[in-house]
Amino acid sequence: MNYPDLPKECTSLLCKYLTPEVFEMLKEKKTAFGFTLEKAINSGVENIDSGIGVYAGDEESYELFSPLFDPIIQEYHGFSKVDSHKSNLDSNDLHASDPDPEEKYIVSTRIRVGRNLKDFPLGPAIAQQSRLIAEKMISGALASLKGELKGEYYPLLGMSESVQKQLIEDHFLFKEGDRFLESAGLNRNWPEGRGIYHNEDKTFLVWVNEEDQLRIISMQPGGDIKAVFVRLVSAVQTLEKALHFAYSEHLGYITSCPTNLGTAMRASVHIKVPNLAKDMEKFKAITDKYHLQIRGIHGEHSESEGGVYDISNRRRLGITEVQAVQDMYDGVVAIIEAEKILAK
Ligand code: ADP
Ligand code: ARG
Repeated sequence: MNYPDLPKECTSLLCKYLTPEVFEMLKEKKTAFGFTLEKAINSGVENIDSGIGVYAGDEESYELFSPLFDPIIQEYHGFSKVDSHKSNLDSNDLHASDPDPEEKYIVSTRIRVGRNLKDFPLGPAIAQQSRLIAEKMISGALASLKGELKGEYYPLLGMSESVQKQLIEDHFLFKEGDRFLESAGLNRNWPEGRGIYHNEDKTFLVWVNEEDQLRIISMQPGGDIKAVFVRLVSAVQTLEKALHFAYSEHLGYITSCPTNLGTAMRASVHIKVPNLAKDMEKFKAITDKYHLQIRGIHGEHSESEGGVYDISNRRRLGITEVQAVQDMYDGVVAIIEAEKILAK
């Protein structure tokens, strides 16, 4: 493999940190699961508009290709290679009373974490047979959930197109054919082995074998962030008794994309701020201050509609789960304050 053709206008972290020296150092290396530098960088090479551009095939990738991954992790999370990750799922430490009890601004709240099975390769490197085994293990563990978490697993294979479309539109299901995932090898053998589990009210959902083997999701209308967190924690702690998740003292929960390492948590609200939307500079200043990210109404790489944005924590590694949600909460309080002033 030769040094890839990376155009000057490329602003991804891959383009920033894949120097010819780093490339030479890593180009012949291969993990025990057979993952290579070429595979790790393919998504960013094929999608020059990537923000990050790299994926890991397994936990070993983060070690073996560390001259590339470390600076990317440092820049995205502000986390250095000598730091270690800490977890805190104690909801008593979260100060987040509903910032919008009249539901004027917050449409809905969602918190998800990514998880992968210990000793399995991650999605970009997994073989079809292992993916199917992972699906069986996960759906088996989900079948034992009780009470509010009790639900059913719906494989994508055999799901009618109209049901799938409606689930995506209603923000419950992952979309199909994402080009970043496609060139990362994450869409191989689609739709086999993929699926969604949810309870009757769709307040608790689990995506199986999309970008990560599990995306555990708690969501509901309105702004009761603490209730959403409490439900998520209860689910994660129950599932942890049935499944072994990949975790490292240094990097926390292991995920296929380096942006999701650590807590693997994205806590978001859909928030209606039509006035702030007219002053994106001000909006951005608030989200930057609170380490938040602005996404569109259909998630990553989508646009806002009707002044509704998806606001979530940006950092996930080197902070606890409580801190990740607190980042989002504090920022949302500031966003609502700014919107109120502008509306006057
Ligand atoms: P992820 O959250 O797993 O990183 P996406 O950004 O693609 O992935 O979002 C997945 C789906 O979740 C999308 O349909 C998105 O609109 C939906 N979503 C995210 N946050 C919220 C929220 N607070 N309320 C309702 N739906 C949400
Ligand atoms: N690979 C894509 C990019 O670099 C997405 C990165 C973060 N998002 C994710 N879903 N992992 O822009």
